[in-house]
Formats: sequence, C-alpha cells, structure tokens
Amino acid sequence: MKKILLLVSAAVALALIAIQLVPAERSNPPVLADFDGPDAVKEILRTSCYDCHSNETVWPWYSYVAPVSWSVAEHVREAREELNFSDWASFRGDAHLMEEIYEETKEGHMPIGSYLRMHPGAKLSEAQLAVLKAYFYPEGSEHDEHEHEHD
Ligand code: HEC
Repeated sequence: MKKILLLVSAAVALALIAIQLVPAERSNPPVLADFDGPDAVKEILRTSCYDCHSNETVWPWYSYVAPVSWSVAEHVREAREELNFSDWASFRGDAHLMEEIYEETKEGHMPIGSYLRMHPGAKLSEAQLAVLKAYFYPEGSEHDEHEHEHD
C-alpha cells in the first residue's frame, strides 16, 4: 500500500514538473495609443484593469507556474481582445463597450474575482465606481437625475 502511494506521488510530482515545459504566452506588445482620459479615471484603470486590459501587464509570479500560467495568459489574451486601453483609438468609439465598462464594474464582474483575491487593492470603492460611471456612462447619471425629479 505504502509503495503504491509513493509511486503515485512520484508520478504526480513528475507530471507537475513536465507541464512546466509547456510555455504560456506572456508577451507585452507595444502600447499603440494609451487611454487619454482624465488622470482620476486613468489611475483607477491602471490600478484595477491594466494587468489584463492593456499591453502593460505586470505578470505575477504565479503566471510563471503551470497550470495556473496557462489560465492567466488566456485571461489576458481574451481581455485584450475585448477591451485594450493600450489601443484606445480602436475601442473608444464603441458606445456599447463604454456602457459595458460601467455595467461590468458596477455589478462586480470586473475585475474578476480570482484576480481580486491576489490583488485586493484592485477592488473598486463606491467613489471609484462613481468616477467610472461619470466618465464612461454619463447618460446613466442623467437618468438618475430624472428619476429624482419624479420622486
Ligand atoms: C484578471 C484579468 C482582468 C482584470 C483585472 C479585468 N478584466 Fe475585464 N475582462 C477580463 C476577461 C478575461 C474578459 C473577457 C471575458 C469576459 O467577458 O468575462 C473581460 C471582459 C471585460 C469587458 C467586456 C465585457 C463584455 O461582455 O463586453 C469589459 C467592459 C471589462 N472587462 C472591463 C474591465 C474593467 C473596467 C476592469 C477594471 C476595473 C477590468 N475589466 C479588469 C479580464 C479582466
């Protein structure tokens, strides 16, 4: 029995070492056109979004350890595809996406939970959410004002 356990442990250890040989893509392509909004907005984005939604990713230590590395690299690849603050000229004109920035943050979907566990400082405060809303979805603030007029 002991022998079998030992063999299984050795096999698992070997497998974990072997998968380290399968690389994850951790590139930071050049910044084409950085987000150029107000500093207050930019600071929030840099702290909470840039590790995934920009070409200035700070790759954490766990992004070097498979199999976590594959998942981190995949998140960054997908995130850059949907919204890249380093290629702002290509995304800024998308009004729907701008509204999504407000909605995804307000609903707590962004930044994603697994990231917040490792980067608690990236969690958005109510004040920061208000700054994002005022910038990315000012029409929404107008709706709020109208609602208040009625009550
Ligand atoms: C740990 C990586 C990570 C961080 C940090 C992160 N995101 Fe994302 N984001 C993703 C991934 C992955 C996707 C694509 C998959 C999805 O929609 O869930 C995405 C998608 C989005 C989308 C597109 C959603 C849609 O359905 O159109 C928006 C908008 C967005 N993120 C905004 C933000 C904002 C704003 C921040 C910072 C406050 C942020 N994200 C932080 C990983 C991240």
